[in-house]
Amino acid sequence: MIKEVIQNAINTQIAREIYSSNLYLSMAGYYTTKNLHGFANWMRIQAEEEMTHALKFFDYLLDRGGKPVLAAIAAPPSEWTNPVKVFEDAYHHEQLVTSWIHELADLAITERDHATSSMLKWFIDEQVEEEATTGEIYDRFVMVGDNPTALFFLDNELKARKAAPAADAKSAK
Ligand code: FEO
Repeated sequence: MIKEVIQNAINTQIAREIYSSNLYLSMAGYYTTKNLHGFANWMRIQAEEEMTHALKFFDYLLDRGGKPVLAAIAAPPSEWTNPVKVFEDAYHHEQLVTSWIHELADLAITERDHATSSMLKWFIDEQVEEEATTGEIYDRFVMVGDNPTALFFLDNELKARKAAPAADAKSAK
């Protein structure tokens, strides 16, 4: 049986992953209104991925005999000053998520919960990738500056992102 302190922390993380999903879906909507359909596609797929993260924590709690408790989710922003700021926010959000995952990992060690430590390894690795990807796209977006041709090509490139084949959280284990 999972300890209550770990269960509470995982429930908090489920809410944070759902918020992340809503945030990226909101960003997808924003980009669509700006006719940046590649960026919109990238964010929409990111939103789906975040929901699989929430489900992964949800399933883990149940596997450990715990109880998922869903919390109210704050509304994400829906307006940004410009399209680059959206990606800057996404990059900073991923850095924040990394710090949350590391806090959870610290707690699992303190509580000597080896199963939770093992499960979190996937998230620790995933965050390295998520920060690298969002950081790289953000840097390239900044480099594009006011060059519409470069923006066209970057947007086109992001149209190619496809949803991960393992769309369900269980098979992402
Ligand atoms: Fe679930 Fe992008 O962190």
